[in-house]
Amino acid sequence: MVDYKEKIDLNRLPRHIAIIMDGNGRWAKKQNQPRVFGHRNGVKSVREVSEAAAEIGIEYLTLYAFSTENWNRPRPEVNALMSLLVETIRKEVSTLMENNIRLKAIGDLGKLPDRTLEALREGIEITQNNDRMTLVLALNYSARWELMEAAKKIHWDATKGLDTEKLTEEIFQNYLATNGMPDPELLIRTSGELRISNFLLWQIAYSELYFTDKFWPDFRKNDLYEAIVSYQNRERRFGKISEQLA
Ligand code: FPP
Repeated sequence: MVDYKEKIDLNRLPRHIAIIMDGNGRWAKKQNQPRVFGHRNGVKSVREVSEAAAEIGIEYLTLYAFSTENWNRPRPEVNALMSLLVETIRKEVSTLMENNIRLKAIGDLGKLPDRTLEALREGIEITQNNDRMTLVLALNYSARWELMEAAKKIHWDATKGLDTEKLTEEIFQNYLATNGMPDPELLIRTSGELRISNFLLWQIAYSELYFTDKFWPDFRKNDLYEAIVSYQNRERRFGKISEQLA
């Protein structure tokens, strides 16, 4: 097995990595297990990848844990995911403390079940002063929801005197759920699907996209490192030509 960790240039790390964790259901089905079995094993990948990212010095790791569209899944699966979140946050708070990781959440959190919200708020509060890495859970999140919210807040502020003629991209970013965070330089999606699925549409304007066929429960530290190496081997031109970059 190639050890990708030693191939990483620590001076050119992405500051922010975002991940669409996909394929839990199919991973479970492959082994004739219920979908929830896949989600449970997905939690192991969440732990591994969070540790791996913190270890090498990633500043922000954002995980798409539950989209606004996921409410359309069968009720038992939604309930199981919500319970798993509560259980995982409660159980992992000590690991987050040990690793100096701060927990944060983005999304329409008010619509989460009370117990999920409570566990989340607790986790966020306990870890609020940690400063090695920020682990951001996207929960009941969708980019269109986020952009609509921004539009509404700007409209509200305009009635209070905000001059919308002077609105810049920098000011607009302050209205997003990711306010204060750098845009992800690298977006990973597991399970072979080649879609963005309403995730961070504004923020990924210049992100490098990395797709792997591995299902999320099979995604391990070395897979994250492989994605980072792939990112580092690309030339990010931001609309310029190669010669201008040198
Ligand atoms: C996608 O697989 C996965 C999800 C919708 C949920 C992800 C949740 C976890 C890994 C567990 C909890 C997470 C945290 C952060 C504590 P899928 O169900 O869409 O798989 P499929 O495409 O094969 O059906």
